[in-house]
Amino acid sequence: MKVIVPFADVVGEWQPVRAKALEGIDRVFSHGRFVGGPEIAELEQKLAGITGARFAVACASGTTALQMAMMALGIGPGDEVIVPDFTFIAPAESALLLGAEPVLVDVLRPSGLLDPDELETAISSRTKAIVAVSLFGLPANFEAINSIASRHGIPVIEDAAQSLGAGLEDRRSGNLAGLGCTSFFPTKVLGGAGDGGAVFTNDEALAGALREIRDHGQGGKYHHLRLGMNGRMSSIAAAALLARLDRFSRALDRRRSIGALYDRLLEPLRETGRLDYVRSPDMAGSARSQYAVVLEDREALARGLREAGIETAVHYPAPLHDQPVLQHCRRSGRLETASMLAKRILCLPIHPGLTDEQVNLTVERLGVLVQA
Ligand SMILES: Cc1ncc(COP(=O)(O)O)c(C=O)c1O
Repeated sequence: MKVIVPFADVVGEWQPVRAKALEGIDRVFSHGRFVGGPEIAELEQKLAGITGARFAVACASGTTALQMAMMALGIGPGDEVIVPDFTFIAPAESALLLGAEPVLVDVLRPSGLLDPDELETAISSRTKAIVAVSLFGLPANFEAINSIASRHGIPVIEDAAQSLGAGLEDRRSGNLAGLGCTSFFPTKVLGGAGDGGAVFTNDEALAGALREIRDHGQGGKYHHLRLGMNGRMSSIAAAALLARLDRFSRALDRRRSIGALYDRLLEPLRETGRLDYVRSPDMAGSARSQYAVVLEDREALARGLREAGIETAVHYPAPLHDQPVLQHCRRSGRLETASMLAKRILCLPIHPGLTDEQVNLTVERLGVLVQA
């Protein structure tokens, strides 16, 4: 089957900055500082500018960023870390790798974001951090989450892996909590030429701790002050990202206009009650990294779209509480929304190279299938 509407276009997204990225990589080959080159500090400065955070610490991946953030908070055995039940496994996995216990909490409908009421119920005397994910590009309700957390004296980490560039009122994603973590996985809003990530904070002491943790806990050469890891980003990865940053705001604008077009075209279908889409009153600030619809009989619809040359994906096919590796985790409440979303969610193509015609075609086909 010929693909008419591809789900993602990693090669196409690099095209306008490919030559510049290759020049930057070539410079790394000339200076030879493949680890810790000047590209890292330059990238960190630009990333801090995007989020408004005082400090950005570039690292090896979004998962590394989450683990480093938890290590900087001193999380370890016996501690609990609250994570949403409907997201990628990385926050739960990072807690487990440190010997802590993830506690799974339900999300809201129709936003798919951490439910602040359920969060408050889940807090125990062992809770040492709360991870709220800005899922599909849309910031979680940090006003409510930060206020609950500060009442209990618990630090908050924003998992901004999918939401770099998003805004919530006058603040930007990555800088919506005490610590923010993002990912530069190639299909993310700011996709890298390989793995990469960053941690953001306004706290100088935490930033210092993060830099030490990233480099084997070293305060000076071979002087290990704390437990760390090799969490570094390569200079080549940073050089490629610096080139990609040139087009970042343009790409973000295009994602936003595609998202708004989907919303407008899908609204009549939503009114029939046959389909819903992930949304919230803060949608205008979303980085629109995924466009998710919620419908019955997802597999048949995905098949119908595929037969028409339209690719889709399922993020995520199971709530975390159904993952074999997380069976022993404490669950708070019934986690019904996470289960429902995992059964019914379907992500439609959204990337800067998509044309309005492709969006129209996707919605048209979806409408026919949903109403058949
Ligand atoms: C919500 C979320 N958190 C964390 C990660 C982990 O990022 P990485 O793949 O860079 O380790 C991802 C990446 O898929 C993600 O989507």
